[in-house]
Amino acid sequence: MRVGILGSGLMGGKLGTVFARAGHEVVFSYSRSQPKLKRLARDAGKNSRAGTPREAAQDADAVFMAVHWSRVNDVLDLAGDLSGKVILTCSLPMNDENTELVVAHTSSGAEELAKRVPHAAVVSAFGTVPSEVLFGVFEARRRKAGRPSLVYCGDDSRGKESAARLIRDVGFEPVDAGPLRIARYIEPFTLLIGQLAYEGDGGPELAYRFERFAEPASRQSARPRGRS
Ligand SMILES: NC(=O)c1ccc[n+]([C@@H]2O[C@H](COP(=O)([O-])OP(=O)(O)OC[C@H]3O[C@@H](n4cnc5c(N)ncnc54)[C@H](OP(=O)(O)O)[C@@H]3O)[C@@H](O)[C@H]2O)c1
Repeated sequence: MRVGILGSGLMGGKLGTVFARAGHEVVFSYSRSQPKLKRLARDAGKNSRAGTPREAAQDADAVFMAVHWSRVNDVLDLAGDLSGKVILTCSLPMNDENTELVVAHTSSGAEELAKRVPHAAVVSAFGTVPSEVLFGVFEARRRKAGRPSLVYCGDDSRGKESAARLIRDVGFEPVDAGPLRIARYIEPFTLLIGQLAYEGDGGPELAYRFERFAEPASRQSARPRGRS
């Protein structure tokens, strides 16, 4: 896939690097430092280059939005027309102090982004893990069992297929959480991950994993499906 990175900081820089190492064509864009974009592209290898947001978006099969919430409008303006594009977003709608969500409960950052770009296929993905874990997950991707989960949601099947493919290529097991409005649950969940990663004792190299367990047969027949 051709992936345009809009915001080449902790998330965009690292995920762009991993996408390129997994064989995708990557354009890094949107940094205040052009040398930084060039260095990222050089370090990520032959599949990547530095460009403007417009260049990153132009021929992309998917663009990855990884900027602070306060920069979303700016980067969208620079990227130009994103109609028909798949937009994966990890951008949380945080206030300027990064202390709380400014959109929640009745909407989400991903839904607000979709309103800004109504003819694009917005998928919420990659926001639920700290950047510090990404290279470790990629290194461990060939492990036979126990891949960490990564939730994503969206309304467009093509966008979701692209998201699932990239999630798998990074080394996670994609978990389809449903339509885009489920980002209302995903985004607050990310604050919990942040709390555990940055305020806990174990360090920020944290991922999560959902597992299912069969209920014992005696309990299964005693209750209607879907209730606990
Ligand atoms: N970091 C995480 O672990 C994490 C995890 C989950 C979700 N998120 C979400 O992901 C999004 C990105 O987070 P991040 O930690 O990757 O942010 P970051 O490291 O600050 O990266 C943001 C990128 O935007 C660029 N930028 C900022 N202001 C700019 C401006 N005025 N002009 C041009 N470029 C500008 C930065 O440029 P420079 O290169 O010049 O700094 C940087 O490349 C956020 O919405 C955050 O909530 C982050």
